[in-house]
Amino acid sequence: MNLEIIHTAPAMLATSERLLLYALIYGLRPQRCLEIGTARGGSALIICAALDQLGSGHLVIVDPSPQIAPEDWARMAHRAILIAQPSPEALLQAFNLTKSPFDFVFIDGNHGFEYVLKDIEGVLPFLQEGGYILLHDAHYFEVAEAIEVALQRHPELIDCGMIAREANVTENFYKGQRVVWAGFRLLRFCPKPAKRLRESLRARLAQWFPCGEKRR
Ligand SMILES: C[S@@+](CC[C@H](N)C(=O)[O-])C[C@H]1O[C@@H](n2cnc3c(N)ncnc32)[C@H](O)[C@@H]1O
Repeated sequence: MNLEIIHTAPAMLATSERLLLYALIYGLRPQRCLEIGTARGGSALIICAALDQLGSGHLVIVDPSPQIAPEDWARMAHRAILIAQPSPEALLQAFNLTKSPFDFVFIDGNHGFEYVLKDIEGVLPFLQEGGYILLHDAHYFEVAEAIEVALQRHPELIDCGMIAREANVTENFYKGQRVVWAGFRLLRFCPKPAKRLRESLRARLAQWFPCGEKRR
């Protein structure tokens, strides 16, 4: 396995995040991936390299201002489709290209609270049951807040937590909060909400062990 791309890709990601992104794709084996926010295409190159290693899968990239060098595009054009438009407006078009829900979505576009929330809610109708949403810069307070609101609004989203903790702590403050970049947070889309699942399991346990109920 040639992992050189992890070091050479022009990605705005920490080394731990590059490794993890590759490993997630290689391990989860998604067939249909979506990336919101690509810049120079670094993270897209890593995703496509992992798909190459698997031998199948595609990536749809949504970014209104992509800056992918032609030589980098040539390395992933066989697996990637670029929609040079903003999310969430372009998400229906992205879905129409794959004709099936996405298994894996990487959100790294506009990091403003409203945008992140719209990205998360915008992809939900196009996400496979059991599919994953990976968010970059989850240490950044606006991204973190948008994730919290999305989790509150959508119990079908399971919070897998921070899966890459490396933080880029800057000297800058925005809206009174220190600006901290980096961090991967993973969400899983489980349309059967955990709460309902727990309730049905409790009901089944009560059926199996009725004396446990009496003892209470
Ligand atoms: C942090 S960069 C992405 C870095 C890239 N994922 C990587 O790791 O190499 C953010 C990108 O999001 C794009 N962007 C901004 N608003 C967007 C939107 N509404 N939808 C999709 N992409 C957006 C910008 O054009 C920029 O290229």
